Amino acid sequence: MSVILAIESSCDETSVAICNNGKITANVIANQTIHENYGGVIPELASRVHQQNIVPVVQQALIDAKVTKKDINAVAFTRGPGLLGSLLVGVSFAKSFALALDLPLIAVNHMQAHILAHFIDEPKPSFPFLCLTVSGGHTQIVLVKDYFDMEIVGETLDDAAGEAFDKTAKILNLPYPGGPLIDKHAREGNPLAYKFPEPQIKGLDYSFSGFKTAILYFLRDQEKEDPDFIQKHLNDICASVQHSIVQILLNKLKKAAKQYGIKDIAIAGGVSANSGLRNSLAELAAELGWNVFIPAFEYCTDNAAMIAIAGYHKYLNKDFVGQDIAPAARMVF
Ligand code: KG4
Ligand code: ZN
Repeated sequence: MSVILAIESSCDETSVAICNNGKITANVIANQTIHENYGGVIPELASRVHQQNIVPVVQQALIDAKVTKKDINAVAFTRGPGLLGSLLVGVSFAKSFALALDLPLIAVNHMQAHILAHFIDEPKPSFPFLCLTVSGGHTQIVLVKDYFDMEIVGETLDDAAGEAFDKTAKILNLPYPGGPLIDKHAREGNPLAYKFPEPQIKGLDYSFSGFKTAILYFLRDQEKEDPDFIQKHLNDICASVQHSIVQILLNKLKKAAKQYGIKDIAIAGGVSANSGLRNSLAELAAELGWNVFIPAFEYCTDNAAMIAIAGYHKYLNKDFVGQDIAPAARMVF
């Protein structure tokens, strides 16, 4: 029997989940809307809002899961990667909670947890599989050999796919985070209206910084001809940008699948909520005979349910850490 309380505070969502014998019974997420005013996450503000949110979010999770503090058997938390000030709130809270109730502590890697979100619900992938992990800070193709045996076989050399979405949105005067808004406008536009060059990067790695610059120059040239170009063609611009980013992501994923001879393919992370990516992946699956695993929307963007399920598998392995544990902002696998 195990009841695990899990805390996620790596960026701008304060989230607490409960995992009861491998089943998620609560997943409370407090979003921080304050950053919308600044065009990006302000680390100091994020940390302060986590401090305000953490106690009520824990209380709500206990209520949702219908358990009390006394029922908890272990505390899992995101150790990294993420913003140091944000991580510190979750890590400090987890350590204090575990110390007060004499519970074991479980440290979870946020990027591994995004992948392990696939083990919350059915159908679950079987090992080995490939996972394209695409978030605001990372873009990785990961060879997943076991729950905690993962190898990054390709990654971005500069910006992440989420950044490519968010920075394009900023150029288009859309508020932060722009990814979901580009997705929304893209549904009404023509994905082939404008063409942007695909970066030529060797192997399985990605690059998105040149892509962003290409969009910037394209819009600058168009606005010289027509100052209202963006307003008039917003849906087509969003659809074309989204289509290009999705093609870049999937072309390398196809290459990886071929190279490793693997047909079980998953996506994870905030950008896996993107409808264009989800649809194109489903089409590729039919074309190439892949078994694809696409997470439920609630488990794509940052959430503690993924920390809880990762924590559960570490709990089964008795993989605990001591009170001397510290956050690791640049944690790798
Ligand atoms: O995984 P996540 O919630 O946080 C990080 O760990 O970074 O990912 C956030 C990123 C942001 O860049 C956001 O714009 C992007 O995921 N995102 C999307 C969509 N929903 C979230 N990008 C494109 N389309 C979406 N529907
Ligand atoms: Zn994330």
